[in-house]
Amino acid sequence: CTKTQKLNTGASIPSVALGCWQSSPEDTYTSVLAALKAGYRHIDTAHVYRNEADVGRAIKDSGVPRESLFITTKLWNTNHRDPLAALNGSLERLGMDYVDLYLVHWPVPFVKPSPDAKDQWFPKDPNNPEKFHNDKDWDFVKTWELVQQLPKDKARAVGVSNMSKTNLEKLLAAPTTKVVPAANQVEMHPFYPRHQLLEYCKQKGIVVEAYSPLGSAGSPLLKDEDIIALADKKGISPACLLISWALHRDTVVLPKSVTPSRIEANIKVVDLDDETADAISALYKTKGRRILNADWGVPVYNDEEDNF
Ligand code: A2P
Repeated sequence: CTKTQKLNTGASIPSVALGCWQSSPEDTYTSVLAALKAGYRHIDTAHVYRNEADVGRAIKDSGVPRESLFITTKLWNTNHRDPLAALNGSLERLGMDYVDLYLVHWPVPFVKPSPDAKDQWFPKDPNNPEKFHNDKDWDFVKTWELVQQLPKDKARAVGVSNMSKTNLEKLLAAPTTKVVPAANQVEMHPFYPRHQLLEYCKQKGIVVEAYSPLGSAGSPLLKDEDIIALADKKGISPACLLISWALHRDTVVLPKSVTPSRIEANIKVVDLDDETADAISALYKTKGRRILNADWGVPVYNDEEDNF
């Protein structure tokens, strides 16, 4: 699949990417190499995945020219007050001068832990160890004010992730917001299709990127009888059906795999007919469910269509 979408910066973004969430450092290295060999030109990582260095090393060793690739990484929750320092850290680990897309990973600022704190990634509220240590004096609107000013030669495009329609509306209405996010990367699959969010983003020229398109670890969607039946009818695998459905809706799609044969298969997509796509789009009515269910301490899943 060589399909691309246009970002609001004018840049092209390849529609199928290798997702690296939940890939160990070793697996990341081998799977990025396998993906580049299979023709992927878009790799999606994040600071918190702790595999940026492995992505960078695999790209170098592949010999594929940097300028032919589209690389995304993300600002972690503990760094909302200093995106430039965080971006510089990511570039250093990646061994790159720039990323093609830099996303605010969650609309959830955490208090930055002291350097000797045990948990550097998910700090807990000192008054309630059950809760995350939310930065109460900061919010994603302030983060975006800084992110939109990041140097273009280091972050060619900037965007958001895990943003509901309600939160995006708040962001776009803020007087400090001068740049419309280029992309919004969210959990999205037939059981959580987020039709209204997708429609809203299309209206605003924000490319939607679907993560966990197969249902994430354990891939419950691949075992679903309706999905299997629809895939059988088309003579394709359930994974191919799900990835092709995501493309039919004009989203970018990020199937994750560390298995070379699956990595190769996941970039071979088909053009779905409207009838099949509509049948998939309606499955949520009886089977709707989110896979991620963390309580972030601030509103994240605050659209009506997030509730099942
Ligand atoms: P693995 O990485 O061991 O190959 P998602 O993209 O929704 O996050 O789903 C990722 C999960 O789906 C991983 O467990 C991955 O396993 C599995 N997976 C990826 N591609 C395929 C495929 N083509 N067929 C079956 N399972 C797949």
